[in-house]
Amino acid sequence: MNYKVLTAEQAAEFINNGDAVSFSGFTAAGCPKAVPTAVAQRAEAFHVQGKEFKIGMYTGASSGDSLDGALAKAKAILFRTPYQSTKASREALNSGEAAYFDMHLSVLAQELRYGFMQKPKFCIVEACDLTDDGEIVPTSGVGNLPTFCCLADYIIVELNAAHPKALRGMHDIYEPKDPPVRDVLPVFKVSDRIGVPYVKVDPKKIIGVVHTNLPNEVGAFTPLDEVTEKIGQNVANFLASEIKTGRIPSSFLPIQSGVGNIANAVLAALGNNQDIPNFEMYTEVIQDSVVGLMKSGRVKFASGCSLTVSNEKLEEVYADLDFFKQRIVLRPQEISNNPEIARRLGLITINTALEADIFGNINSTHVLGTKMMNGIGGSGDFTRSAYISIFTTPSTAKGGAISAIVPQVAHTDHSEHSVKILITEHGIADLRGKSPIQRANEIIENCVAPEYKDMLRTYIAYAPLAHTPMNIETCFEMHKALKNTGDMRNAKF
Ligand code: COA
Repeated sequence: MNYKVLTAEQAAEFINNGDAVSFSGFTAAGCPKAVPTAVAQRAEAFHVQGKEFKIGMYTGASSGDSLDGALAKAKAILFRTPYQSTKASREALNSGEAAYFDMHLSVLAQELRYGFMQKPKFCIVEACDLTDDGEIVPTSGVGNLPTFCCLADYIIVELNAAHPKALRGMHDIYEPKDPPVRDVLPVFKVSDRIGVPYVKVDPKKIIGVVHTNLPNEVGAFTPLDEVTEKIGQNVANFLASEIKTGRIPSSFLPIQSGVGNIANAVLAALGNNQDIPNFEMYTEVIQDSVVGLMKSGRVKFASGCSLTVSNEKLEEVYADLDFFKQRIVLRPQEISNNPEIARRLGLITINTALEADIFGNINSTHVLGTKMMNGIGGSGDFTRSAYISIFTTPSTAKGGAISAIVPQVAHTDHSEHSVKILITEHGIADLRGKSPIQRANEIIENCVAPEYKDMLRTYIAYAPLAHTPMNIETCFEMHKALKNTGDMRNAKF
């Protein structure tokens, strides 16, 4: 290979205070590990000498502890977009130490190309293969790699031997042209391939290769409990009944499923429900449960941006790559999350809310309206363009001290106009074709936890009569009770 071989520390020395650095991958899948950790150590060394050292960070979505975690702990983040989920980075941005722009994941690449934000100077890439003429084969996550590589002046490749070279062929790399010459994105079926299986870069931009052999840092899922299992069953039963009524075609439609434990449980429930036909996924992250569902034939094909699976599941995939390469395609997030394609394919989208209100507005991101949890992620890319958009949430959090359903969300990520179905462990609220007061009754009676039902009934009974009966004097009483007493059950209406 013609490239200069570097240690992670030597590679990190290229990066300086104030640089904008982009990273491959999506979630902890496909992210570089050794160089970001070395950059964090470099930052710490500068800080010991009393010198400034912070970088701007562009990623696909969240990342692993060696990337977000290490840089946040080193207080080395100047700005961060589009999504994060480690404890350390959450603390950095909620304390005001790092600037965070929470963005729809499908739009970061184009906004960088449009020049809306600082151009990345570096791209640090995890690859399973690299050729002398500049073909980079990503590992288990793609993210915004094509655009990052195209815009960056310098590329550093972490060649990670933990991922087989035979992964070549699982990716489909395509970068759209920009307006006014943007063309149709020609994905007409979930399995359509429209690009090439590698990211092509000018080899002169590759300033070094760091050899690693490091496992992914995807966290394990918590086992299903009674609540998540019930939510999953409610989603599956709802979709089965939609097929029976003919509102969903009997051949079914592709599924998009969000991140986290509930999303994983929902997929398991869809797989177990015999009234749901074998299905395809056009989604962002491919999580653990999909691997088993693919082996059993329940999931026929999955298009995603990353294989966000535990290392145990990743080994299963790598042990049978011929089988999985015929059934999985990994795309850049601009394509995996693209609203044009989502609407064309007619996706059934299933995402998780932190909080919902009785009118159907959803808060996916901000605890008590102020503290950032993770970010909007791809939920907005999919929800607005869905065939049917579903939000799921346990009806309560923190042992019942928080009702996930409140009179008014403290922050809005998805508005009542985009949200069609709300599902908790108690039931299903179908918001389609209903006025605000009809939606409020549907949500209170079907989804709210028993201990909060009377509270919300009273709120709505005393709200001023109007198209949307919202009472600006009392709509945050439940949030106030949580803030002041630690328990929403103390709210008075
Ligand atoms: N107020 C305060 N905290 C709440 C809450 C509320 N209304 N509802 C839940 N929480 C807390 C839980 O108690 C839990 O806290 P803990 O980690 O201290 O135990 C935490 O939030 C996560 O809740 P959990 O029930 O484990 O949910 P999850 O792992 O399924 O994640 C989201 C839920 C909303 C945080 C997550 O789905 C997310 O970040 N979504 C936005 C991005 C997205 O939708 N991406 C998918 C697009 S493809």
